[in-house]
Amino acid sequence: MNKKVRVSTILKKKADGIKITALTAYDYTFGYLIDEAGVDLILVGDSCGNVCAGHETTLPVTVDEMIYHTRSVRRGVKRALLVADMPFMSYQETIEQALHNAGRFMKEGRAEAVKMEGGAHICPTVRKMVEVGIPVMGHLGFTPQSVHEFGGYRVRGKDEQEADRMKNDAFALQDAGIFSLVLEKVPSKLAKDISESLKIPTIGIGAGLFCDGQILVSYDLFGLYDKMNFKFVRRYANLADEIRTAVKNYCDDIKNSDFPSQDESY
Ligand code: KIV
Repeated sequence: MNKKVRVSTILKKKADGIKITALTAYDYTFGYLIDEAGVDLILVGDSCGNVCAGHETTLPVTVDEMIYHTRSVRRGVKRALLVADMPFMSYQETIEQALHNAGRFMKEGRAEAVKMEGGAHICPTVRKMVEVGIPVMGHLGFTPQSVHEFGGYRVRGKDEQEADRMKNDAFALQDAGIFSLVLEKVPSKLAKDISESLKIPTIGIGAGLFCDGQILVSYDLFGLYDKMNFKFVRRYANLADEIRTAVKNYCDDIKNSDFPSQDESY
């Protein structure tokens, strides 16, 4: 096994100009497969609400559900830095609420960091978390927990006012102590600007080539979740079709009395 990835490793990669690789995972099996393949950072994303639970948005996901997923992934992950996503309304009410829930992700989920969506308004919370020893990853651009406020899935930061606000939010989050920043669905030029101005690394998803690293929802990369098609997703496999074919072949074999064979029987 290569050396364990820590927050300091992620920061050093930016300093050394080495791209950071990141992917989501939601259970033990995918956790160990993705970890063994050598990804730097594994995010237990609240996108599990979409791809595992079948919700239309990430909003219904609860802290208890996220902790279950985090604990499952944790058992499989040895090398990568494990980050847990804080779900909608688990950190927005009060700093005390945010600290309590982040603490659960670290203690019960054995995550090594948490991720929160939002800009300057979450900085007092970020500051407090960092103060007590909880590393925080930020998330700007299209932040899925605000889908209803945004009124859809459009790219964020296209106009000057929105772009300026995003840059200010990025600096404010860096000052508050985040160790990295996800930029989702942001024009490539704006993501490049932000990445070049920050000391901490940016991790892009639909934010072009010039971020310091890239992340995708693993089910998208595997071609496992094929209900939505985003322009920024590259499918490296087509597991959905492979699974459909495997299940069909299995059913055919049962119906034709081809399964189980003698070798597969006691
Ligand atoms: O929940 C998630 O999977 C995420 C990534 C898209 C960054 O937040």
